[in-house]
Amino acid sequence: MKTRLLSELDALLISPAMMENPYPVYRRLREEALIAWNETWQAWVVSRYEDVKASLKDKENLSNERRQDVLFRNMAPADARQLSELRHYFNQKDVIGSDPPDHTRMRALVQNAFSVPTIRALETRIRVLAEELITDAAVIPSFDFIADIAHPLPVILIAEILGAPPEDRPLFKRWCSDILAFQGTGTTTPEKARVSQDSLMELFEYMDELIQDRKRNPQDDIITTLAMTEIDGEGFSRDELLATCNTILTAGHETTMNLLGNMVYLLLSHPEQWKQLQSNPETLIPSAIEEVLRYEAPKQRNFRRVNASHTFGGQTFEQDELVFQLIGAAHRDERQFEEPDRFDITRKPNRHLAFGFDIHLCLGAALARLEAKVVLEILLETLPGIKLDEGTPFKWQDRVQFRGPGFLLLNRE
Ligand code: HEM
Repeated sequence: MKTRLLSELDALLISPAMMENPYPVYRRLREEALIAWNETWQAWVVSRYEDVKASLKDKENLSNERRQDVLFRNMAPADARQLSELRHYFNQKDVIGSDPPDHTRMRALVQNAFSVPTIRALETRIRVLAEELITDAAVIPSFDFIADIAHPLPVILIAEILGAPPEDRPLFKRWCSDILAFQGTGTTTPEKARVSQDSLMELFEYMDELIQDRKRNPQDDIITTLAMTEIDGEGFSRDELLATCNTILTAGHETTMNLLGNMVYLLLSHPEQWKQLQSNPETLIPSAIEEVLRYEAPKQRNFRRVNASHTFGGQTFEQDELVFQLIGAAHRDERQFEEPDRFDITRKPNRHLAFGFDIHLCLGAALARLEAKVVLEILLETLPGIKLDEGTPFKWQDRVQFRGPGFLLLNRE
């Protein structure tokens, strides 16, 4: 027998109040229903820190393969037929959508391309780009940090990492928003799925050509490394590499945009901590970024497909059911963090799960942290008097899975 959430709590999970402030709902989940079936999401919900961590680590019973299959289950046959290319794609394995041993091979290939020296070498490029975006935005006294900086910076960088010339950046922006409107939302409509399918196919066609070109004319860049490297005689298959390019684009964009937006919002809405940061940036920037990642996790909810029926926390998870790991709820668990609802840029230790845990631990974490560090350094150096625009009501994005400001109006001084 499944323990189901009370219908009131069930409804709260998709309410506007949840988008605004999920933390009271998370608290109730941790106390009243630490592991329970959610009718609305049609998924198991796991909310306490230790359970979320154990769930992220459970590669015996939980799988990353065919996680999105469930989305097509209740679709009308006519809609499902129109989405055959999208369904085909979700049946492919890529670095995130695979389990060992395929995952082990693909992860090693991506890790090789995203090596520590490679990411470190991007710092100068990130600084030039971020300085350009910040200087352009701050020519007027009031600007939107999300539209002008947090949104474009990660997408430009990923387009460059994937080998695209500057004039093609707008394509990547469009593909990324279309694909994300479907992928990873946990719910979908056939209309959104069709738009996502069209953009995904365009991205694949584009990347296929670019990869073939790099194979003929190798360059000293990440996409050439991804296309050419073999470890123990094995590289990516064509489909695996295309799907991995999509993962790098989608996994790296919205999450980083939210990290940047949350960082600026949290620091400026805690002026005493902004001041503290200004007095000792070298020491405090790293711990401030970790605290932002904990306090407002950019990815609030991760998910897995049940691979083998098993019991977890007294509940029986059946094969092919979904499990939602509420990272955002785990980050406010008082069993793990002292005064979890307090934002504290000096917090240590801070063992958050913002980048996941264990074998699927985020491969872009170093890049995301570097982008955040560079942006923060430039803001502290060039716009130390920057303030939130008090006259504009603040609004979170309407997404349950991700958390970040919809827009963030700042005043230069
Ligand atoms: C603040 C920014 C980011 C956050 C919060 C974040 C979060 C995550 C999380 C939670 C996972 C684990 C998924 C799972 O267990 O199924 C993950 C995996 C991954 N992320 Fe990120 N991510 C961020 C930035 C990036 C960037 C910038 C890139 C690349 C450019 C990236 C690429 C990946 C990849 C390739 C994986 C799959 C790793 C694997 O399955 O072995 N991420 N990320």
